[in-house]
Amino acid sequence: MKALVLCGGAGTRLRPITHTSAKQLVPVANKPVLFYGLEAIAEAGVTETGIVVGDTEKEIRAAVGDGSAFGLNVTYIPQDAPRGLAHAVLIARDFLGNDDFVMYLGDNFIVGGITGLVDGFRAERPDARILLTRVPEPTAFGIAELDDAGRVMRLEEKPQMPKSDLALVGVYLFSPAVHEAVRSIGPSRRGELEITDAIQWLIDQGRDVRATTISGYWKDTGNVTDMLEVNRSVLETLEPRIDGSVDAYSELIGRVRIEDGAKVFRSRVVGPAVIGAGTVVSDSFIGPFSSIAEDCRIESSEIEYSIVLHRATVIGIGRIEESLIGHNVEVTPAPSIPSVHRLILGDHSKVQISS
Ligand code: DAU
Repeated sequence: MKALVLCGGAGTRLRPITHTSAKQLVPVANKPVLFYGLEAIAEAGVTETGIVVGDTEKEIRAAVGDGSAFGLNVTYIPQDAPRGLAHAVLIARDFLGNDDFVMYLGDNFIVGGITGLVDGFRAERPDARILLTRVPEPTAFGIAELDDAGRVMRLEEKPQMPKSDLALVGVYLFSPAVHEAVRSIGPSRRGELEITDAIQWLIDQGRDVRATTISGYWKDTGNVTDMLEVNRSVLETLEPRIDGSVDAYSELIGRVRIEDGAKVFRSRVVGPAVIGAGTVVSDSFIGPFSSIAEDCRIESSEIEYSIVLHRATVIGIGRIEESLIGHNVEVTPAPSIPSVHRLILGDHSKVQISS
């Protein structure tokens, strides 16, 4: 069994989280979403992993390297343009050989890993197994229609009139039968070789395609509420650890991780919360469900149920809740001019100010 992880694409559609990173590197509890996928693959006992890369190849390579940190042996497979998920399978043919494989979309987050699924596939060896989950916006996903016995009848990519709310989750298990399928289909309306069409081809050929419905699932859609929620659920499983320094005037309560080189002065941190490497927190309160990334400066402030990305500075602004603060952002108090807000906000920023 091999793994094929898809990290191609143009690096767009990241708003409002970041304009610069690959979406597979968006952090969840201070760790790129892609890393959870790679860990799940290793945990399932799969080592040989191909990563399909596009415009953001440099960033992905810098983050993952040769895969040894995850216990994986990674081969990079460049894709010239995002020509579709089935195209990614097509160009990975040499790497995949005649092995079964798990295809994992690098921007998907599956709660609880994939070990059970991979083991089940190894034992049963159908031609394909897809994962489904109920979603509130079926038009944004590939959607499956099942018959009364729960067998997959039809798949449709981003349907305008969805026949169900069962979306395809970005983990697929395939036998080598999929190679003939990806060679047999043509581009879709949006000009891509769709994996949904390849799986439909297998169904139409009478091949054995099975489905499993799961519940814990998240994909970066640029929706901050969802991102805060997945951050919360991951923080709840955080292993508390103090690798940085905490002075005698500070208090840590509950599941708190202080990463290497982080410093906490005269502050209170109530978990679950993580403070990233090199970050300095002083005279502040960091409340539950907060992820503060690396090299941030938090001074005389209160932050709760929020995500703060790399090198952000938050100084003297009272309380922040349910917020996402991007890379290199500076949040500081205005000089004491009554009822005036002075704002320098990047494109597509969203700010709520109580007046
Ligand atoms: O996330 C689940 C959904 O993923 C499924 O419900 C859909 O059926 C499936 O088509 C896919 O839809 P998206 O349009 O949301 O896929 P996206 O363009 O976001 O690509 C998913 C991942 O695959 C992402 O990490 C980028 C990578 N990718 C994508 C394309 C189109 C590639 O590596 N190469 C590609 O050509």
